[in-house]
Amino acid sequence: MPQQPRKILVTSALPYANGSIHLGHLLEHIQTDIWTRFQRMRGHECYSVCADDAHGTPVMLKAQELGITPEEMVTRTRAEHHQDLLDFHIDYNNYYVTHSEENKQLSELIYNRLKEGGYISTRTISQLFDPEKQMFLPDRFVKGDCPSCGAEDQNGDSCDVCSATYSPTEMKNPRSVVSGATPILKDSEHYFFDLPQFEEMLKGWLRSGAIQEEMANKLQEWFEDGLQQWDISRDAPYFGFEIPGAPNKFFYVWVDAPVGYMASFKNFCDNNGVNFDSFWNKDSDAELYHFIGKDITYFHCLFWPAMLEGAGFRKPTGVNVHGFVTVNGAKMSKSRGTFIKGRTYLNHLNPEYLRYYFASKLGDSVTDIDLNFEDFTQKVNSDLVGKVVNIASRCASFITKKFNGKLSDSIENPALLAEFQQASESIAESFEKRQYNRAIRDIMALADKANQYIDAQAPWVTIKDGTKQELTHQVCSLGINLFRVLVTYLKPVLPKLAEQAEAFLNDSLSWDSAQTELKGHGIEKFKALMQRVEIDKVNAMVEDSKESLAPAKPAADPNSPLVKDPIADTISFDDFAKVDLRIARIAKAEHVKEADKLLRLELDLGGETRQVFAGIKSAYQPEDLIGKHTVMVANLAPRKMRFGLSEGMVLAAGPGGKDLWILEPHAGAQPGMKVK
Ligand code: MSP
Ligand code: ZN
Repeated sequence: MPQQPRKILVTSALPYANGSIHLGHLLEHIQTDIWTRFQRMRGHECYSVCADDAHGTPVMLKAQELGITPEEMVTRTRAEHHQDLLDFHIDYNNYYVTHSEENKQLSELIYNRLKEGGYISTRTISQLFDPEKQMFLPDRFVKGDCPSCGAEDQNGDSCDVCSATYSPTEMKNPRSVVSGATPILKDSEHYFFDLPQFEEMLKGWLRSGAIQEEMANKLQEWFEDGLQQWDISRDAPYFGFEIPGAPNKFFYVWVDAPVGYMASFKNFCDNNGVNFDSFWNKDSDAELYHFIGKDITYFHCLFWPAMLEGAGFRKPTGVNVHGFVTVNGAKMSKSRGTFIKGRTYLNHLNPEYLRYYFASKLGDSVTDIDLNFEDFTQKVNSDLVGKVVNIASRCASFITKKFNGKLSDSIENPALLAEFQQASESIAESFEKRQYNRAIRDIMALADKANQYIDAQAPWVTIKDGTKQELTHQVCSLGINLFRVLVTYLKPVLPKLAEQAEAFLNDSLSWDSAQTELKGHGIEKFKALMQRVEIDKVNAMVEDSKESLAPAKPAADPNSPLVKDPIADTISFDDFAKVDLRIARIAKAEHVKEADKLLRLELDLGGETRQVFAGIKSAYQPEDLIGKHTVMVANLAPRKMRFGLSEGMVLAAGPGGKDLWILEPHAGAQPGMKVK
């Protein structure tokens, strides 16, 4: 059923510019990308934009820690984030940054309109202030004792021990996380957005189906609690946009962040001749969807629509909220190695495995999505490699070898192909409603049918029967056609696999091409389209993620609590893994004339000899050492010493002085052996 072409703009939440893209972010970008690709395949005018969220205190402090300007840091991070996303085949029309001229202008425009509309007021509030750093402290930059239970070292907004929530001003023994100083209370004038004026509009908008029902019900609680004035200003120093007419006051990051959606699109429109206004005007006929995680619903379903309404722009058609990614049933954890960065994943595994796995689990609800590695491995191997790709690999070689690489003019079982084709609208409906899990289930049920058909026809048997050549040709040709329809349906999820399949089929696939059939058509030689997931690679990725548990960076001030982080004095597993420890036989040992602590050793590494200067003269006469074994660091960079080159380091046990021990030779320990 051909539809009227729709005009659609889609966004994903803008990742903060002070951390890496991880698998949690990727759930969202993959969800958005599948939907966008699906709409484009259906022939709609669908754009998607995203950006880095550049502003705010955490970004500012992180840049200070790195000793660079926030602009510099944001430029770097944006490029890194964008590359990560591209490597997962996530295809935004524009991946911009909120620290941009377009965003500044649009944020100012919206603010000025809100001000003219009477939605902005000012009032003086009292907040915790770091007297050393000369800055106001956001809640999460204050630590202290819980006002409820007295637990020490709790966050400024809530207690991990008794779950109490409070304001940082209520804490006992508060201190600034930035400098360690005791914060003082200080007055400052703040700007407020009058959210309560939009209560009726928001209730109506939420009832319009703009958001999942389970979410809309939850949002009712906010109205029951009563909407509050929203504090939209922050005092300098703050990395952000200065508020027009308010020197040294900046927009709170959550003001210009959603405007960043518009700004990224504006930048795209200006460079590509697309009409920006026709998407954002109050009477726009375009659809606008935001894909977000459940933690930021408040900003997207209250403040943002109210800002748009108050400034005379259209409101979102829908806010699509998803749940959180858990790994092996638990919150992503750095110490367990389940806090996995996109880049670490890419170093080990094919991005389409993850796209497929998330798609197979994603519905339109806000329930969390568990990435279970066993399930992941099993599902990808059995569905993609075992079912889908298998159809083509079972049929293609006969076509190539026996039938000149050409499909037959008619197929053996037209009813089966028709059944595959008829599934098109219902699968499309699943994608449209973001019920990807349902789409995948239906596609895999068809893949099972295709394999059962091929099993029953057994072309590898009939090919040997001279009287059954035409039958074999038709069976294999049908197999290839069934494969082609399945790949078409999977194309939004697996764009790379689809691209390879298109090359193999000599064809390009749009949603409607599922309704056609390849007859008498030449195909290319089949090459493996996807490798199986190897569990070793999954494990290696987890190991690597443990390593990315970087020691907390000491803050500039040594009093900072960050310095006392227990992991700061440790090395990571990766650091340890880099050390190449080998058993060495001491082949030669002699005094070094000018040095009273050193001996010159010649170490036999089982074929290779190294010279090492070792400070063990206090415990050993050189002649006693000859023939003994030691453990040496074999990959230490050579160091030029006064007496010659030292090519490693030997290890000895003991407190020092006379008490240093070297190993007696043992039959099981051969020179050159790795120690770990
Ligand atoms: N910068 C804000 C968004 C501004 S949008 C105008 C922000 N950034 S974020 O980097 O913290 O999160 C970006 C998106 O990733 C959010 O939608 C968030 O819900 C999502 N996720 C972050 N961790 C996640 C999981 N573990 N699982 C699923 N989504 C997660 O919030
Ligand atoms: Zn407590």
